Amino acid sequence: MKHTIRIICTSIVACTLCLIMVADAFAQQRRVVRKPKLPACSAGASAVLARYKVEKGEALPATIRKSLTKKKGDAEKGLEAAVNRGKGNCLACHQIASVQAKVDESDAETVKTYGNHGELGPPLNGVGARYSRGELRMILVDPKKAFPDADTVMPAYHTRNGLKDVSRACQRRVMLSAQSIEDIVAFLEGLK
Ligand code: HEC
Repeated sequence: MKHTIRIICTSIVACTLCLIMVADAFAQQRRVVRKPKLPACSAGASAVLARYKVEKGEALPATIRKSLTKKKGDAEKGLEAAVNRGKGNCLACHQIASVQAKVDESDAETVKTYGNHGELGPPLNGVGARYSRGELRMILVDPKKAFPDADTVMPAYHTRNGLKDVSRACQRRVMLSAQSIEDIVAFLEGLK
């Protein structure tokens, strides 16, 4: 009799444990795995990195002679990408006289878009005459290669090499797409 009771008790405990395990497994399966929401990377960012070849430049130690894309750069789009605070944000560090000239003090929107030029970098007036197209492309893609001795603060807009302090949202991305780089190069070429 004692033996039978022991068997029954053991079975009940075993069954209960079994049920708990099965229930837990079900609960785990149903648990929705939510990916953490990351803040968006910059508006011009791209997951596609174009291939490019760095060669020796004329005015600078490095140049990228071949276009990053098949499509020709559009200077007008380049201007817009350059001034856009979420894309190139070039005005944060550079003065550009032809852009400043677009500011109409009575129109707040033009002040916001084309005004407020910083001075961390040199003014970009005349860069189209100082550098070749390939050198301008090199400066945008990876300025550390264009100015190897300067320890420059200018951001690298189209490389994943040697970057520091990249936010999690922007890792494995480049700051500007290959086409935006070509558009901005076309815009800079016009600054003579
Ligand atoms: C955080 C500041 C910063 C930002 C943003 C920045 N630059 Fe620069 N840029 C510099 C600095 C500083 C230099 C000078 C290079 C050096 O460090 O010696 C420079 C140099 C240049 C030069 C060479 C100028 C010359 O006369 O030698 C060009 C062209 C240029 N930048 C274009 C751009 C464009 C176009 C953008 C936007 C897509 C941009 N930069 C964004 C800081 C910046």
